[in-house]
Amino acid sequence: MRLVCMLLCVPLWAMAQVDPEYVVPKKNPYATPADVRNGQNLFMGQCARCHGSKGEGGLGAVLAQPRLRRAPDDESLFILIRDGIKGTEMPAGYALDTRETWQLAAYVRGLGRLTPETVPGDPKRGQDLYRTKGRCAQCHIVGGQGGSLGPELTDVGSRRSATYLRAALLDPESALPKGFLQVRLVTKEGARITGLRLNEDVVSIQVKDLNGGVHSFIKGDLKELQRDTGKSPMPSLRGTLSPSEVDDLVAYLVSLRGNQ
Ligand code: HEC
Ligand code: HEC
Repeated sequence: MRLVCMLLCVPLWAMAQVDPEYVVPKKNPYATPADVRNGQNLFMGQCARCHGSKGEGGLGAVLAQPRLRRAPDDESLFILIRDGIKGTEMPAGYALDTRETWQLAAYVRGLGRLTPETVPGDPKRGQDLYRTKGRCAQCHIVGGQGGSLGPELTDVGSRRSATYLRAALLDPESALPKGFLQVRLVTKEGARITGLRLNEDVVSIQVKDLNGGVHSFIKGDLKELQRDTGKSPMPSLRGTLSPSEVDDLVAYLVSLRGNQ
């Protein structure tokens, strides 16, 4: 029995990530220049595709900023890289051991000392466009105000890069959040509804319509149910706003950093 376990358990143990008994120290114990270099290699392999090679952000949060919202100190940064952030695209560290997790943390901290990305455009004018011509508040919440069809934007500037935000405005369908699905359906009575799928199981589907109303249907009762994979109800701003107005709007979104 012992022998079997030695043969089977050792490789399993070696694959396991951080030891669950590990008491996370307050300060990063692996932060020498060599650790940072190794952290950089790991980052390029596992993190850069979402966070950008210099931490400038993309699908993932902007890491090149002096203070990370969810990881203000070394200990919380270690835990975040180890466990990921539930309910977001941020995954738990894949096959990283304790030392590697710390080396990544050391590299991420260093990114915060780089100069942040500068964006053209005037955030003040962007804020006006957001309220007026853009009609963004119809579908988005900032600081508790607005409609809830689209994702909340209160802290979007610390979650997404300027490049990503620009693409989200000009080509909304280029950047659909995880799990996002637009559906179109026709009820038994002949009413047509376009909206976002909230939940679906074998029997029923819950949908939020474009005005924010929530509906639940038995799928067997529907005349039609169409899934618009890759489609977004958000209108593109191409043509509606001038290039300099788009710059202003992006500058405004970049300035939305939540309660920092
Ligand atoms: C599949 C995309 C993806 C990958 C891969 C990914 N992340 Fe993330 N990460 C995200 C997203 C999205 C967020 C923002 C989550 C939120 O707060 O809504 C995030 C957030 C973070 C944060 C918190 C930022 C803050 O402002 O507090 C850190 C730190 C971080 N990631 C580090 C890493 C590291 C290190 C790796 C590689 C081991 C990594 N991420 C891999 C998508 C990703
Ligand atoms: C008809 C509703 C609607 C309107 C109007 C609208 N949006 Fe959206 N927006 C959405 C939906 C739904 C999504 C999520 C799907 C997607 O990414 O296209 C979204 C996504 C976004 C994202 C990406 C968020 C993320 O975390 O990935 C940004 C940024 C955004 N909208 C900004 C704006 C701005 C700025 C305006 C005003 C010019 C605006 N939206 C107008 C519905 C809307």
